[in-house]
Amino acid sequence: MRQTIATTKPTILIIFGATGDLAIRKLLPAVFHLFQKNLLPPKFKIIAWSRRPFSNADYHKFLKNALKGKKISLRPSRSEANTVPRPLGASFESKTFTKFLRYISYHQGLFDIADSYKKLKKTLVKIDQHEWKECSNKLFHLAVPSDFYEEILKNISHFGLAISCSDGAGWTRILIEKPFGKDTATAEKLDEFLGKLFREEQIFRIDHYLAKEALQNITLFRFSNLLFEPIWNNKYIEKVEIKLFESLDIQGRGNFYDNIGALRDVGQNHILRMLALIAMENPKSPDVKSVWQERTKILHALQPMLSADVAKYAMRGQYKGYRREANIQPNSTTETYFKIKTFINNKRWNGVPFYLESGKAMKEKKSEIIVHLKKSISFFCPVDQTCDYQNIITFKIQPEEGISVRFWAKKTGLTSHMEAKNLSFSYHSDEKIKQTVDDYERVLFDCIRGDQTFFTGTEEVKASWEFITPIIAAWQKIPLYTYKKGSNGPYAADI
Ligand code: BG6
Repeated sequence: MRQTIATTKPTILIIFGATGDLAIRKLLPAVFHLFQKNLLPPKFKIIAWSRRPFSNADYHKFLKNALKGKKISLRPSRSEANTVPRPLGASFESKTFTKFLRYISYHQGLFDIADSYKKLKKTLVKIDQHEWKECSNKLFHLAVPSDFYEEILKNISHFGLAISCSDGAGWTRILIEKPFGKDTATAEKLDEFLGKLFREEQIFRIDHYLAKEALQNITLFRFSNLLFEPIWNNKYIEKVEIKLFESLDIQGRGNFYDNIGALRDVGQNHILRMLALIAMENPKSPDVKSVWQERTKILHALQPMLSADVAKYAMRGQYKGYRREANIQPNSTTETYFKIKTFINNKRWNGVPFYLESGKAMKEKKSEIIVHLKKSISFFCPVDQTCDYQNIITFKIQPEEGISVRFWAKKTGLTSHMEAKNLSFSYHSDEKIKQTVDDYERVLFDCIRGDQTFFTGTEEVKASWEFITPIIAAWQKIPLYTYKKGSNGPYAADI
């Protein structure tokens, strides 16, 4: 089926942090891909805000060079740090890319200077009133470190940029990157602040994992195949493992990472999103409120971690050599690895352990969810065998995206011996893989069309912090294990 464009209404995307690596590595390539696929509105512009004294032509040149990986050396972006970058070369050299550049104008500005916002307002009014003669949609993307959020948001609101230019047309929306706060208290404060300036339907909190094809497939797969739903509970499932392993280390992101650590960086968000999707109930309707509600219910049902249990059920590690990386405190106790055993206290999941595990500098890059079914009892078990027949369903998020089911089949021959076989599908073995969308393409597309389903809601963020914050607090009192780079994490991770 052909995809329809996000909206036919004129739209302006304003990117704060337009020379930053998120904008260069993820955002602008994603907008370009939408442009190539004709999925952007016919009247579309990008205003690229940064503090460098660039003209439009300078910025276009900068962008071209950056995308070709020439002049500036790019470290992997936050969300791409551990993936093989797309081949950026060819399409950014093309005539289509030159055409795309015409949509981008540069805006030199400083986040704390009133004039920068006044100038931006003038530009926006000029486009609407003189060029397009129509009230356009405005999408503000904060592709900047979270320390700048408050300043920028306050100014967007103060200078009336968040007010729509007409009653019936021209929405304004805000796209916000994680980390959304540092703990329950700071997240609540940021949310309260945002809530004063914008309505919930204007706020799009990004968790790029939710935009991954393989993650979106989890609920669709679960609720569309009757085969799985009846066994999706504590009667049949023994345990669930959720892993986000990266083979790369912190890749020069010391300043950011040392204040954050693995649990805040990927646990509070990506891993808990995976947990919610694998465990949630079928929403009563596909509308965003019902989906958010079901995802959030799971987070609320997580067994709170008592500080006395943290040493037993939540362990953390740091790879050897971390403290010698640039911008890391020499005695830093920031974790680069964690493994948590938790339970979901509801009828469906009572008693089933969920293992949440993530690490940097691990042996391999792999994100997956492994659902272990209980062992079956077979009366056909040959006397000389132990028959631990167990089905395992693996949701592969990356690098390969797909699902595999391990099942048991009779070995050919005169005995009743069984062997494990895999029933699987992978998007990568499918020719249509060329049509799958990148995380940020989905993020932008959904935001422009106003679909918040694959963004995080305020209650969901709050519930995630409520589970994580006590663990971080209690960790200060328990040992930090070390592990070798390229290994499977600390030996002590057997919880
Ligand atoms: C980001 C984290 O949110 O996710 C990074 O800040 C991490 O540290 C990245 O590398 C992982 O995302 P992906 O899509 O590469 O698995």
